[in-house]
This record gives sequence, C-alpha cells and structure tokens, in this order.
Amino acid sequence: MKSLFTFLMLLVTQFLWAQNPANLKVFLKDVLAFPLGASINPRLLDDNMNYRERAGSEFNSLTAENHMKMVNIHPAADRFDFEKGDELVRFAQNRNMRVHGHTLVWHNQVATWMKDFKGDTQAWEMMLKNHIQTVVTHYQGKIAGWDVVNESFLDDGTLRPSIWADHIPDYIAKSFIWAHEADPKAILFYNDYGQDGKPKKMQAILNMVQDFKMRNIPIDGLGLQMHISVQSSNEAMEEVVRKSAATGLKIHFSELDVAVNPKNNPEFVYDDTAKDEQLSKYLCVFKAFQEVPVAQQYGITTWNVGDGDSWLRGYFKRPKEYPLLFDEAYRPKSAYRILMQSLKKYEK
Ligand code: G3I
Repeated sequence: MKSLFTFLMLLVTQFLWAQNPANLKVFLKDVLAFPLGASINPRLLDDNMNYRERAGSEFNSLTAENHMKMVNIHPAADRFDFEKGDELVRFAQNRNMRVHGHTLVWHNQVATWMKDFKGDTQAWEMMLKNHIQTVVTHYQGKIAGWDVVNESFLDDGTLRPSIWADHIPDYIAKSFIWAHEADPKAILFYNDYGQDGKPKKMQAILNMVQDFKMRNIPIDGLGLQMHISVQSSNEAMEEVVRKSAATGLKIHFSELDVAVNPKNNPEFVYDDTAKDEQLSKYLCVFKAFQEVPVAQQYGITTWNVGDGDSWLRGYFKRPKEYPLLFDEAYRPKSAYRILMQSLKKYEK
C-alpha cells in the first residue's frame, strides 16, 4: 500500500514537473534553423521572474519593444537615455542572444522636442543624422541589425506624411546611409506592416529597394511585421514573402502575432476551435518563412512573450485577445507544442 502511494506520488510529481515549461529540455528555438526572437519590455524583465525566465530561455534574438524608439532613447535634444536599452543588451549578451534594434526613424513615438524642432533642411538633416549616428554608435558591435526606417508608406503606396517626410527630402535613403556610416557591419532593415492585400504598398516598398540598389544605398533587409489574425489570407501573406525574398535581401518576420478576436468581441471565448485556427496560421507563417532561401533568413520575432504582454491588450485595449505562443502565466500554448513537433523535420 505504501509503495503504491509512493508510486502515485512519483507520477504526480513527474506530471507537475512536465507542466513547467522550464523543465522541458528542448525549446522551439532549438528545432529551428533560424533565430527565434521576441520583443521585450525591460521593465518586465525586472519586475516579473516568470517573464524573465521565459524571455531568457525561449529565444535567441531580442528586440526592445519600445525602449530604443526616439521618444525613450532621445528624450531631449541634448540627452540620450540608454539605460533600459543597455539593460536589454546585457540580458541578451549574458545569454548569447542576438539583439535587433527597433527603430531609428518612425513617424510615431517621436520625442516632443523633435516635433517642435525649428530649422531649415540642413538643420533637420543634422538633427536626424545625429540621432541615428549617436544611437547606432552607442550599440556598435552589440546590435546585429537595425530597423532603420519604420512604416514610411501608406496603403496606396504614397509616402506617409511625417515630420521626416515634410522636412528632409529623400529621408529614407539618407537614414540608411547615416546608419551605415555609424556601423558598417550592422544589417539594415526597412520595416513595415500589412503589405498583404495592399499591392500598392507592397509595390512601393519593392520600388524603393530597386531604387536603393541602383543608387548603392546600403539596405540589407526587409522586416515584414506580420501582425496578422486568424482571418488573414494565407495566399496574400505567402505572396508578400515571395516578392520580398525575390529582392535577395534578408527577411525578418519582425513583429509576429496572430490575433484570434480581431473584432474585439467582448463575448469571445478562446476555445479549441479558435486555438486550432490560430495554430494553422502560425504553422503557415513558419512554413512560409522556411521557403525563404536560407542565406536570407534573419529570423522570426514575436511581438512580446505572453498573451498578457501583447500590445493588442495594452495599446489596443482588446482584453480578450490571445495572440502569442505563451499564455498569461508564460506556459507554452498548444500552438507552441505542435509547432515544435511539426517543424522538427527541419532540425539543424
Ligand atoms: O511608458 C508609458 C508609461 O510611462 C505610461 O504610464 C503609459 C500610460 O499610457 O504609457 C506608457 O507608454 C506606452 C508604451 O506603449 C509602453 O507601454 C505608450 O503610451 C504606448 O503608445 C506604447 O504603445 C506601443 C506602440 O508601438 C506605440 O505605437 C506598443 O507598446 C508597441 O508594441 C507598439 O509597437 C509597434 C512597433 O513599434 C511598430 N509596428 C507596430 C507595433 C504595434 O503598434
């Protein structure tokens, strides 16, 4: 009787042990032939041990979700704040992870002093060049690649109005040149979202790449953000990947998440059907990435770690959204486990 009890206790202990993801010896990143990344909130690394543990074990590439953007890293004309970015870099370096920089130039999360900046074209150029080169130089040798310019085109393929477009002619090309001058080894990306189903936007980006090649502007990669949902078209997504890869540039699925409740239905239940739909979308995305020629595979980065950390819940205020591979308690979801099984055949 006593030995039966001991045996049952052993079984229960083993079951509980297996439920803790930290005890799984093989991670999804281990079965992939390319880096698997996440965007990270360094504040959560400090405050939440589960977050820290998951971020530190599941990924081999990290991106700052917000802390390297202009508003945070360059809060005043004469002041840069590298504290949180440096913390993230140290965290990654201690674990042999790559760091991807996000983002040098964007129309959003611009510092107030930049919005208020007054000056002629030359003064604007000096200001942006100084921003780019100070940040890139600070992280030279520590950050492998940069989203140099983010989201510059509208859906109709025209240049998005912004303080940069308004004040600096050809600002996208100039930004790449300035970034390259500061760190010639950094892999430089143009990053954007929603090219699927928006042929004019897609074409504008491809035209820009073509033009940059002709002018010897140092662009190395295209970031396809991949903020998609279970309703997104697989064919449209695959076409964007094919066309982007045909440029010969490196490809980064840079901000992946798969929304299950895109209309923000308050009654939404994240049931097995929703989980299955989400899983097939994740599978489709990973398989599309594996179709990219190996030398061009920069990696896949999910936009944060657990469902509770997603911008869709915070920034977009969609409480019933579950877009990532880990739940609120950082347990791997079924999609994570099945991705690992399905992708095993591509083992390194
Ligand atoms: O840090 C402040 C905090 O001090 C303050 O108390 C709080 C009050 O609202 O705001 C906090 O800042 C927020 C920040 O996220 C950190 O949570 C900003 O208001 C909020 O605007 C910001 O949202 C970010 C959003 O970009 C801004 O456009 C999201 O976290 C971030 O995930 C999102 O990321 C972008 C990529 O950079 C580019 N592609 C699209 C992607 C999703 O929008």
